[in-house]
Amino acid sequence: MANHDTGRPSRRRILKGLAAGTAIAGFVPTRFAIGQPAKVRVGLMLPYTGTYAALGKNIDDAFRLAITEKGGKLGGRDIEYVVLDDEAEPAKGADNANKLVTRDKVDFLVGTVHSGVQMAMVKVATDNNTMLLIPNAGAQAATGPLCAPNIFRASFSNWQPGFAMGKVAAEQGKKRGVVISWDYAAGTESTDAFKEGFTKGGGKIEKELFLPFPEVEFQKLLTQIAEIKPDLGYAFYAGDGAAKFVKDYAAAGLKDKIELVGPGFLTDGTLQAQGDSAQGMQTTLHYADGLDNAKDKAFRAAFRQATGREADVYAVQGYDTAQLLLAGMSGVKGDTCARKELIGAMEKAEIDSPRGKFTLSKAHNPVQDIYLRKVSGTQNRYVSVAVKALADPATGCKMA
Ligand code: PHB
Repeated sequence: MANHDTGRPSRRRILKGLAAGTAIAGFVPTRFAIGQPAKVRVGLMLPYTGTYAALGKNIDDAFRLAITEKGGKLGGRDIEYVVLDDEAEPAKGADNANKLVTRDKVDFLVGTVHSGVQMAMVKVATDNNTMLLIPNAGAQAATGPLCAPNIFRASFSNWQPGFAMGKVAAEQGKKRGVVISWDYAAGTESTDAFKEGFTKGGGKIEKELFLPFPEVEFQKLLTQIAEIKPDLGYAFYAGDGAAKFVKDYAAAGLKDKIELVGPGFLTDGTLQAQGDSAQGMQTTLHYADGLDNAKDKAFRAAFRQATGREADVYAVQGYDTAQLLLAGMSGVKGDTCARKELIGAMEKAEIDSPRGKFTLSKAHNPVQDIYLRKVSGTQNRYVSVAVKALADPATGCKMA
């Protein structure tokens, strides 16, 4: 059985230690009596191609940046990264996650972006009792009915920004809305959450419009929105799909007639491409430009220096996923077999995030402020706190 499962060093790791000329002290988990401890194997399963490629890249780069800033080690141990492109393809999710767990024997699974792929990873992590850290995907089940001690999320649940945007839209006096998205977990959960916040505030959803993921032929949906003439549209798209949707919405002549809002993914990391079509848009998210905290300033400068690109919410989430892992591994001095203590250290961590400090809920999802932002130039400028310290309801989670 795999090392992470049993708490014992794998035969392969022992042989590796012997080959390196090190001696083995009984079943001391990951350290050898003489010589270097074995490397920690971190599996990065992310989309490096497809509509979410830029998201995966920013998560990867910022994850490594956080670890490099702390000396390049986890709990004193060197790291071996195993990188796998999941292509944001749910059908390959289980095979891909199994490769990392069974073939590559990773100590930690880190991923992913797409909620459908995430569900496959959650199953593999649960079946094998592998530590899983989620750097983006908001699939509610991961910190809901399928929550588990070995599953942590450093990003958000799809409910959090969606609910906040619905509340804000209702407060701003909007009454009739339509929701538009891709027909998969993130799209339906995000639009349902918007609907919940919006209808609680007196709004009504006139129509729900979906396309299969990752289709970007939006024309038919735009025609329907024009016919319905709602007060506003709420759209969940991200990556390349978001860039195109916002441009198409403006090109269809809807921008100045029917306000378009969304969770911040609609305009994060996409503003260079969206240009004029996104100006003035309001979105809600757990990150914003201009938060004015020291950690954010230092992070953005370091990320720019390391990559030549500007940080966005995905970079922040990758950075914080590594911060969570660093906290856990320093809590057990690198001993991945001290599983209970490792989990305890991660549960107790207060993450000093560029988004503002946050802690985890009992279901292992961030409890965090959701900001209202407004697009200005190439920035999602901070406007206000839409909902303070918002926790996902974690419905169905037995740990919560
Ligand atoms: C998701 O599938 O959960 C997802 C993907 C991209 C985002 C946000 C959520 O930007």
